[in-house]
Amino acid sequence: MRIYSFYYLLLVSIFLFSCTKPLEEKAYNTGINIVPQPASVVEMDGNFVLNANTVFVTHNDSLAHIASYFQKKIDLSTGYDLKTVSSATSNFISLKTDLALPLNEEGYTLTVTPNEVSIIGKTPQGVFYGLQTLLQLLPAEIESKAIVKNMAWTAPCVAIEDEPSYGYRGMMLDVCRHFLDADFVKKQLDIMAMLKMNRFHWHLTDDHLWAIEVKKYPLLTQSIRHNADGTTHQGFYTQEQIKEIVDYASERFITIIPEIELPGHALAALTAYPELSCTGGPFQLRNKWGIEENVYCAGNEETFAFIEDVLDELIPLFPGEYFHIGGDECVKKKWKACAKCQKRIQEEGLKDEHELQSYFVHRIEETVLKHNKKMVGWDEILEGGLAPSATVMSWRGEEGGIQAATMGHDVIMTPAKWLYVDHGQGGIEVEPIAINFVTLLEKTYGYNPASEKIPAELRKHVLGAQCNMWTEYATTPEYTEYLLYPRMLAVSELNWTPNEKKDYNSFEKRINNQLVRLDNHGINYHIPLPEGPMADVVTITVMDTITFNNTQNLPMHYTTDGSRPTVNSPLYKQPIVVNDDTQINIATFLPSGKMSRVREVSVVKDIPHPAYSGITTSGMKRARAEGEFYFVADTKDAQWSEPIVVEDFNYKPDLDSKGAYSYTGYFEVPEDGVYYLSTEMDELEINGEVVLSNDGKLIRHSHNRTSLALEKGKHPFRLLFINNNIGGYPRIWNNKGFYIAQKDSSLKPIENVSYKSQDNIASKQ
Ligand code: ACM
Ligand code: ZN
Repeated sequence: MRIYSFYYLLLVSIFLFSCTKPLEEKAYNTGINIVPQPASVVEMDGNFVLNANTVFVTHNDSLAHIASYFQKKIDLSTGYDLKTVSSATSNFISLKTDLALPLNEEGYTLTVTPNEVSIIGKTPQGVFYGLQTLLQLLPAEIESKAIVKNMAWTAPCVAIEDEPSYGYRGMMLDVCRHFLDADFVKKQLDIMAMLKMNRFHWHLTDDHLWAIEVKKYPLLTQSIRHNADGTTHQGFYTQEQIKEIVDYASERFITIIPEIELPGHALAALTAYPELSCTGGPFQLRNKWGIEENVYCAGNEETFAFIEDVLDELIPLFPGEYFHIGGDECVKKKWKACAKCQKRIQEEGLKDEHELQSYFVHRIEETVLKHNKKMVGWDEILEGGLAPSATVMSWRGEEGGIQAATMGHDVIMTPAKWLYVDHGQGGIEVEPIAINFVTLLEKTYGYNPASEKIPAELRKHVLGAQCNMWTEYATTPEYTEYLLYPRMLAVSELNWTPNEKKDYNSFEKRINNQLVRLDNHGINYHIPLPEGPMADVVTITVMDTITFNNTQNLPMHYTTDGSRPTVNSPLYKQPIVVNDDTQINIATFLPSGKMSRVREVSVVKDIPHPAYSGITTSGMKRARAEGEFYFVADTKDAQWSEPIVVEDFNYKPDLDSKGAYSYTGYFEVPEDGVYYLSTEMDELEINGEVVLSNDGKLIRHSHNRTSLALEKGKHPFRLLFINNNIGGYPRIWNNKGFYIAQKDSSLKPIENVSYKSQDNIASKQ
């Protein structure tokens, strides 16, 4: 049945496709849709038509190499076999460099006339970007990896003068929390090149994995992470793969900045070589997120010898000018308790552990400088004294960057509030789990690396900005891409386009064309989801309306007969009136016809559950069951302790102590009405029925919500909390009980609970 419906859908879509406009006339292909927006574009009449006879003209070997890169790309989608020649009189794309061009190193001019395209770069890199812009003037399908038939490959006539605002336009990828293979990395480098991004910061080591081969220390890449659910995680790049990726990036004018973390985030190194720690270990790769307190011992000479060896071996693999040494989140607890570290503090006349960290980083700086590299570190390297040559990557905000610039150091801006793309990009109630909510596309787009807080004369120290893709919650390559895109397009533009020329409305329109390019690379980007209802179960007691919206005001289509919406389903125009049980299936549609995930909202008409009118006492009961539990079913035959009375849910059992906790009592609602509920614990029962289950699921900001009609007064609950670690996230980090709100107000933790003394846990009330 499934197979038939798949083929049926396929036939229908082929039919629809063949009935609609030619691709070059599609709405997303009309107009000029370049991202990042060039510094200056003058539109002219006419078009250049790229066809099988178009040739590239250049006299320069490195430009011929660039021409061949683009020919290969264009040949794939057009089916042509384009050539480079030394001269032509018409239908050609001329490539030149001119050092006298009044633009910066990466700048270029691009002139398109009906007869020819002329690209002049200040450097070959400028020519490369001029060609990227030319591709962006052609229909989005030029990015296809298979021949697109019957296309008119036309580019509008324009005169473009362009150069980036910043020389550092980066993306950071964490491959330690979830390893991403070489092909994934190359795929992202392709897109970065398309977006004229030029720095790939590769976070290669952490507490959770060491992801790069070091021949002198083979154990580094042999550790396996044992997740709490019994699964394992591993992965690393061989030096051969590293070299291949470095070359691949270099062909795309992308420099790789490798990061080898120290002195903290080093548990993977300590797992393999525990003698480098303060305590001697043994250790295991960390299987829960968060910050590890075991760090390199700063009092041990072996630590420095090890790091020097590792850097001596790894630095030469990366030809770029920067080497990143991490430096963030180094917990000082073990140093405080370590005789060797304390001896070092005394001998070196250091004030405290912050100065010990600074001492550590200064020593490593010497190794980095020995290799003629510039050292980059996260903004914590400012604490205890900044190493003289360091470039600071400002992540906790802009303050670290401002401070470093004031001290005359170069900075790279990557403040979490705008540029951490591991944050959710829409409503918690619809988006998948993310480490934080919410950083909308518009917010990221609005970031200006030249913060107004930095005095104008110091802004020259801002090299540019970078988005950071940490992968604690990005458990798959697909979800990693979902978080990266389209925010990476915004990062490209905020780094390239002059701040005064940035225009979010224009950007939002232009990205529709860019998203089709991403489709052609198989990128799983985010499409705004229908938001509005606080839960997918919407209880009503009387006639009501259901309102939808999405973060980009894109059209939404819906059905009420249980079927999957299509672009031909009714367009959502106004709140939907409901007076009975109704299934609303709704999705957002892009101009390309591609749709978001379908949001399925069940409207349920109900009468309020009667309240409990007996006597209760302030507090609730908490019982504990000993045992190794993971799923709710594991607690079925659990032996519960005699419950104790507690006032709130703020209990934090020891992180590693196994067991389950059951809270029972009554919560109170102020009036008859519909109440929305959520919890990040394992299971919530109200009035004896399971209303929310997070059984076995990684939960942080729960979008697993529901709604119930309740009478004014007290209602019994039971909340089950299993002290386990799901997907690296211990449940106790979530332990805030459950939340409640009336429609359209924000969920607040339950307070003012009460209990009935004769109730006992085992009978679940
Ligand atoms: C960081 O996010 N710890 C740099
Ligand atoms: Zn120590």
